[in-house]
Amino acid sequence: MTRLNQKKTPLFDALKSYIDHSVVPFHVPGHKQGHGLKELANYLGERVFQMDVNGMEDLDYSNNPTGVILEAEKLMANAFGAQHAYFLVNGTTAGVQSMIMSACEPGDKIIIPRNAHRSTIGGIILSGAIPVYIQPEINDKLGIAMGISEESLKKTIKEHPHAKAVFVINPTYYGAVSDLKAIVRTAHRHELVVLVDEAHGAHMSFHDDFPLTAMEVGADMSASSMHKTSGSMTQSSVLLLRSDIISPEKVRQVLSLTHTTSASYVLMCSLDVARKQMATIGDQLLEETLGLARWARDEINTIDGLYAFGKELIGTPGCHDFDETKLSVHVAGIGYTGYQIESLLRKEYNIQIELSDMHNIMAIVSIGDNKSNLEALVNALRDISSKTERAAVIHSIAIPKSPEMIVSPRNAFYSPKKVVALDDSIGEIAGEMVMAYPPGIPVICMGERISKEIVAYIKLLKEQNCELQGMADPLVNHLRVLGTS
Ligand SMILES: Cc1ncc(COP(=O)(O)O)c(C=O)c1O
Repeated sequence: MTRLNQKKTPLFDALKSYIDHSVVPFHVPGHKQGHGLKELANYLGERVFQMDVNGMEDLDYSNNPTGVILEAEKLMANAFGAQHAYFLVNGTTAGVQSMIMSACEPGDKIIIPRNAHRSTIGGIILSGAIPVYIQPEINDKLGIAMGISEESLKKTIKEHPHAKAVFVINPTYYGAVSDLKAIVRTAHRHELVVLVDEAHGAHMSFHDDFPLTAMEVGADMSASSMHKTSGSMTQSSVLLLRSDIISPEKVRQVLSLTHTTSASYVLMCSLDVARKQMATIGDQLLEETLGLARWARDEINTIDGLYAFGKELIGTPGCHDFDETKLSVHVAGIGYTGYQIESLLRKEYNIQIELSDMHNIMAIVSIGDNKSNLEALVNALRDISSKTERAAVIHSIAIPKSPEMIVSPRNAFYSPKKVVALDDSIGEIAGEMVMAYPPGIPVICMGERISKEIVAYIKLLKEQNCELQGMADPLVNHLRVLGTS
């Protein structure tokens, strides 16, 4: 692939030129460069409002780009080693949904890890695909879901030989990476399309010490949250395509169904500039980031009761490689839950981490960090540990096996629902999803039969104050099930 001139920022340059020409704006947005919303413009500064414009000839149109947006997308594709890139302004959520809709038609089976992000359910409902869940490997000691194994994929393909696609998470929230190369090889041998959720892997293409990415190992599509780890602004992501099976026209057609006709130029420009930065000096920036993450991990591992896990997990089930910028710390050894540590860090030390679960916390280390940020975290954890009396280690709870799917998620979504008390839901078909952290695996998905074991498990999770997501009733005293009352 010929390397394009990655120093260029065509979209950003066109927008700067538009602003420099002081064009009289008889177009939306109606704030007219901030004059219509003075309080916010005074706080943010007028520049961001000047940049907040809409599609026009010299600035191109995001739904059908032929000018500077197309040029910026080509540079993005080139930076990732993809054939095509599509700017997204509704996050990787939109990317995940578009990938599933591009690969699957109603009734097509898609093999999907049980711990996939909730956006996959949206993709499944919109496309009418039928999910075939594959269990990720579980690290019992840490209480988290890891990647999937090639063996379990082979077994699932054997059981579902006509499946259309396989969906992979690269890396998981905690940094674990499946053997993506082997998965792609196996899937392609069986003519399955490989779709990769790289919400947490947008930086991995730009330094050699990171796990391999979807585009590097020949997957068909990936969705990458540039905003999470590659410097662009929140909601800006990119959809990447390199496939003999899915055509760029199909992807554009799918995007035109859900993509706004008023994509934010502020967000798209942030993609253009972030791509330039990563493609030109990302290697240097990430070298420093890795240095900080490695330093902090080593320091945390000298603190009594804490375990900052990392590359030593490679070779354990579901962990073929590891992204070291996910600074995940197992905190059960000091007798606190991850939720408690997150709250303590925020309230007592003014530190906000990315994620906590029953046993772990996770801090994202990125190109925006510096040594003093990491020192603050390490010192706070040292302080917490020194003030804590060791309590009994909290053990993980065994997850019941996946329930039986009775109705497809799409049919369940469109079916009438009734609300029943949790105890009365046994035997009913779920009308909503219940997702538990840890380990981030849905306990029940819509369309599945609710068993006695599932209800007992939900009660146990509630007792342990686990975070449960996806339901209308956040306390899960009631569940929505199929049927009318
Ligand atoms: C694994 C995974 N996939 C997809 C998403 C959705 O990404 P976005 O927030 O960019 O829409 C997330 C968000 O946290 C995620 O964790």
